[in-house]
Formats: sequence, structure tokens, C-alpha cells
Amino acid sequence: MSNIESATTRPLSTGSAIPRLGLGVWQVADGHECEQAVRWALEAGYRLIDTAQAYRNEDSVGRAIRDSGVPREEIFLTTKFYPGNRDPLHEARESVRRLGVDYVDLYLVHWPQGGPTWAWPGMEAAYDAGLARAIGVSNFSVHDLAALRAVAQVAPAVNQVQLSPFEYRRGLIDTYEAAGVVMQSYSPLGTGRHLGDATVTRIAGRYTRSPAQVLIRWAIQKNLSVLPKSVHHDRILTNAQVFDFALDDAAMGELDGLDETGATTEALAAGRKWWR
Ligand code: A2P
Repeated sequence: MSNIESATTRPLSTGSAIPRLGLGVWQVADGHECEQAVRWALEAGYRLIDTAQAYRNEDSVGRAIRDSGVPREEIFLTTKFYPGNRDPLHEARESVRRLGVDYVDLYLVHWPQGGPTWAWPGMEAAYDAGLARAIGVSNFSVHDLAALRAVAQVAPAVNQVQLSPFEYRRGLIDTYEAAGVVMQSYSPLGTGRHLGDATVTRIAGRYTRSPAQVLIRWAIQKNLSVLPKSVHHDRILTNAQVFDFALDDAAMGELDGLDETGATTEALAAGRKWWR
């Protein structure tokens, strides 16, 4: 699996390249569990690790990266500004200190709390200071993008949203991609609840793959960067084995048909909390 990174990245508007597959560590406990998951992922060839200030596990992520022996410049490290705080530049310095690195590769506004634009000058300051090689957003709608672009000096490079065949949000994906923003999927397995779906399971059987691999592969074929989360070694390994098969048009069409969002331009279903 050592060639995941080189074989499979997408260019960002800022000039760097983001891996198509990464490990998400949302809801991974700080300490041994998180360190172990990140270590296993790096050993398996993952080169993108996605954390956040709100996850409270940046220390463990940083320790695992240092202990892995993988050179820092080979790893794409994302963290996110917690918008309950006020100063993205200050919080970026704190994140970098906790992570024990000189910079992160991507710094996202975690969700548009208080509106989509107020945090952006501070995000740009973190970018200008070299604390973040690229900046972007998470849980932003099409409406939020329009507001942000009206004020941005540095364009957002990424929007990270919950995306899966069931949460396809095609209107959102198409608009952001047309604006040169890479779309990234968190919870591609629906935090596990999509794994038992009859259509997903049937397609998995047809390809002799796991339901998780089918959902992750769907995201790859939609040109998304995708962040499956697991704390289990075997799952971390098999979730990355998605570059040696392809879903055909019929399978992709069946999966597309599972969309429950009506091709929405929103980032979340109405009434949903950011963190659910
Ligand atoms: P665990 O971390 O115990 O392995 P998502 O990526 O959509 O957020 O989904 C994460 C959930 O899916 C977690 O509960 C994770 O459990 C589980 N999961 C991740 N990969 C697999 C897999 N290959 N098979 C079954 N469950 C998985």
C-alpha cells in the first residue's frame, strides 16, 4: 500500500496536492487509541490524517506522526478551527504546538457558526504566517460559499462535508467543484449505519469487496477526497484497499439512486447539528 499517496492525490488551488484517501479521527479517544490508529494508518500507506481542535486529540495525532518515522513532508495533516473560539490565527498557533509540527497542510473552519465570513480574515492570517499551507471550510453550503467568495483574498481550497451515496448533495458538490474547491467526504460510511444497506451489501457481494470498500470507492470515483474513520487495524487496512478495483456505471448508478438529499446545495439536512 506504500504508493497510495503518489498514485492518488488531487491538486489544490494553493498549489499543494491532497491525498484522495485519509484517516479521520473524529470520535477517537485521545491517547493510546488515537496514537495506535494513526500509526496503523501511516504503516498502511495513508498519507492524510484529519483531526480538529474540537476532537481534542491533536497531541496524540502529533505523537503518532513523530513516532512513525514517516517524514513530515510526506504527510498531509489537516486540522480545523473550532468556531466557538474567536481567533483563528491564535488557535492555529496552538494547534501547531499541540501537534508538534511547524505547519499544517490544511486548516478548515469547522462549521459556519456565527456566519460564513467572520473567521476568514483570521484563517488568511494563519495562511500568510505559514502555519497552514492551505485553508478551507467544512459544513459550508452553496450560499455560504457565495458569501465567502465575496470577501476572500485567499480562496478556500476544500469544503469537507458528510458525503455518501445517501448524502450525495450533488448540487453542493457540483457548485464547489466548478469553483475550483475540492470536496472532501467525512463519515463516508454514515458513521457505520450505511454498511448494512441492502443495495450496498449486494454490490459488495458482486465485487467480492466489503460494504465499506464499496462506499469508499464510490467517493473516490466521484473525485472526492474521502476520510473513513476506524480504530481497528484490519479495517484501517482494508478501507485503504480501494485503488485496485472500479465500480461499473451500473453499480455507480444504483448507489447514486440511494441519495436522500434530493441533490441538495445544503451541507446538512434541516435541523441537524453540525457535530452529529
Ligand atoms: P471502528 O472505529 O470501531 O472500526 P465513518 O467513517 O462513516 O464515520 O464510519 C465510522 C464507523 O464505521 C465507526 O463506527 C467504525 O468503527 C466503523 N467502520 C469503519 N470501517 C469499517 C469497516 N471496514 N467495517 C465495519 N465497520 C467499519
